[in-house]
Amino acid sequence: MKIPPFKLEEFWKKHEFTAPYLLCCSDAETWTLQQLLALADFDSLKLWDSLSLGYTESPGHPLLREEISRLYTSLDSEQILTFAGAEEGIYCAMRVLIEPGDHVIAIDPCYQSLVTLAETFGAKITAIQLKAENQWKLDLEEVRRAFQTKTKILILNYPHNPTGTVLEGKVLEELVELARKNRAYIFCDEVYRYLEVDESLRMPSIADAYEKGISLNVMTKSFGLAGLRIGWLATRDADFLREVGSYKLYTSICNSAPSEILAIIALRAKEKLLMRNRDILLQNLRILDAFMKRHPNYLSWVRPQSGTMAVLKLLLTISVEAFAEDLVRTEGVLIMPGSVFDLSGNFFRIGFGKKNMPEILKRFESYLQSRTSPDFAI
Ligand SMILES: Cc1ncc(COP(=O)(O)O)c(C=O)c1O
Repeated sequence: MKIPPFKLEEFWKKHEFTAPYLLCCSDAETWTLQQLLALADFDSLKLWDSLSLGYTESPGHPLLREEISRLYTSLDSEQILTFAGAEEGIYCAMRVLIEPGDHVIAIDPCYQSLVTLAETFGAKITAIQLKAENQWKLDLEEVRRAFQTKTKILILNYPHNPTGTVLEGKVLEELVELARKNRAYIFCDEVYRYLEVDESLRMPSIADAYEKGISLNVMTKSFGLAGLRIGWLATRDADFLREVGSYKLYTSICNSAPSEILAIIALRAKEKLLMRNRDILLQNLRILDAFMKRHPNYLSWVRPQSGTMAVLKLLLTISVEAFAEDLVRTEGVLIMPGSVFDLSGNFFRIGFGKKNMPEILKRFESYLQSRTSPDFAI
């Protein structure tokens, strides 16, 4: 079985630890170990101090699963299964759900592995194309038309990577109705949940909204703890959970013991973590708003509603790939060309979840100004 290259992660492998100024990160500001431990309550600190570095329980530490279940309105800890990051959750879920010949509906663009893995395991994909001229909104009628008798899963990725859009409550309700009528699962990658610009736009988790809904989340993005590699699947579908739990025994078997305790600490202090991360994000978004107003002739966007990212369109005649390459080579500033998401047109992704974003944006702006002066050519 050959898996096509994972374009987005290949991009990071090449640039993440060499480009000095990352302007396209998807995770919120990272916490240091010291900062995180300073937020620990008395009981969690005891767990940390007495930590034994043996194997851990395969589904996840019971206290971790309990803390995760509090993020949902209708689930208990038995309905949570933890993984090494979101990625292992995606891999195991698709491995378990997909039989050759199944039909899957997905949105395009989205986080690549959601679709690539389903396709690799034998699914036929119908991709629903999101369009900038439609504000990157999902067309419900297109989804309705895409359903077939063999449709096994509707794969969603909201809040959306890379556009930062969310689904309105009534759209999600209609999608649930459609899936229910077709006896299909909805798998929703919700890793940017909790970073909505306007918190009233927060979508319900699909695991709460639908009995065959599978929610994916992780400590990486909104919480700013990518290095823990703790992710999870949440669902009320007991059969799926049992199968996927067995599959995990062939991948990581169990989680890293220190990461589990650190994730418990983080989730017990989640309000503080999320508040700091949202504050950084909202402040950066204001700076970005002003930046976009200064450059209407060179850049356009659909302002993001959630998450840490936005898609910008370069309105110059050069290709965004050449622009991005020159930018990182000459200024060290990394943006992500849309081609990484197979997005045609001169689009690129930026991230605004990090504290150093304003400083990097200034570098980007001076490059843009030099690039748009009449006598400049790459
Ligand atoms: C939408 C989405 N899902 C899943 C992942 C993978 O998350 P992790 O690195 O925690 O496995 C990412 C990472 O970029 C993502 O953007």
